Amino acid sequence: MIVATALSPELAVVPRHVAIIMDGNGRWAKGRHLPRLAGHRAGVEAVRKVTRAARAMGVEALTLYAFSSENWRRPADEISDLMGLLRWFIRSDLAELTQENVQLRIIGDYRRFQPDLVTLVDDAVARTAGNTGPILAIALNYGAQAELAAAARRLAAKVLTGLPAEQIDEAAIEAELDTAALPPLDLLIRTSGEQRLSNFLLWQAAYAELMFVDTLWPDFDGDALAAAIDAFGRRERRYGGR
Ligand code: IPE
Ligand code: IPE
Ligand code: MG
Repeated sequence: MIVATALSPELAVVPRHVAIIMDGNGRWAKGRHLPRLAGHRAGVEAVRKVTRAARAMGVEALTLYAFSSENWRRPADEISDLMGLLRWFIRSDLAELTQENVQLRIIGDYRRFQPDLVTLVDDAVARTAGNTGPILAIALNYGAQAELAAAARRLAAKVLTGLPAEQIDEAAIEAELDTAALPPLDLLIRTSGEQRLSNFLLWQAAYAELMFVDTLWPDFDGDALAAAIDAFGRRERRYGGR
């Protein structure tokens, strides 16, 4: 019998689209008596490891929750640290992403960020737009409820210009979501032991497999992703059937 293991991902059922709620940076730092910024920095290292591992395992799309529409409630200095790390990540890793044929995408209302950061993000997305390999989608100022409200607004505007309301079905809504161009979400992982979605991909998670792991995000790595994908391959997805 061939058993798919974390060490033989080529035998495993690989999810096409994995999303991760990267949680626990603050607790990681606190446990080491370090400032929260050190936890967020270590979190960026985990992003590097996990995006490389996802590519190596053949995941088509990886969506990472980096900043939620509710994270504006944090102290200004922490928000500015997070923005600084985002700048640092894009500047230092764009060459590798380009070289690896990765398509960088953004979901969320990132245009509310500072203008220089918006420009940096737009340039990075544009520079990888011609790539044909795996998708790395970063959720920036993302909130699923705001995403759905925006979709509803756009559809309402289309109705005003002649779209018959009866044509608004699941596919029509999906086409208006920030994730419209991504494959269906197969696996949603949250680190740090919290068991909630915190306004992430509410629509898209309808039939995703949910996985809550206790590991704090900075300790999550390629092996941890392989273990999650292995566990995913052993789940039975029924989609309401029997
Ligand atoms: C996740 O770690 C990073 C972001 C939300 C940007 P946290 O900063 O939420 O870490 P905890 O939950 O306080 O440990
Ligand atoms: C979710 O984590 C958002 C990100 C990982 C970017 P939070 O730490 O902000 O979520 P809550 O506040 O615990 O629900
Ligand atoms: Mg948190």
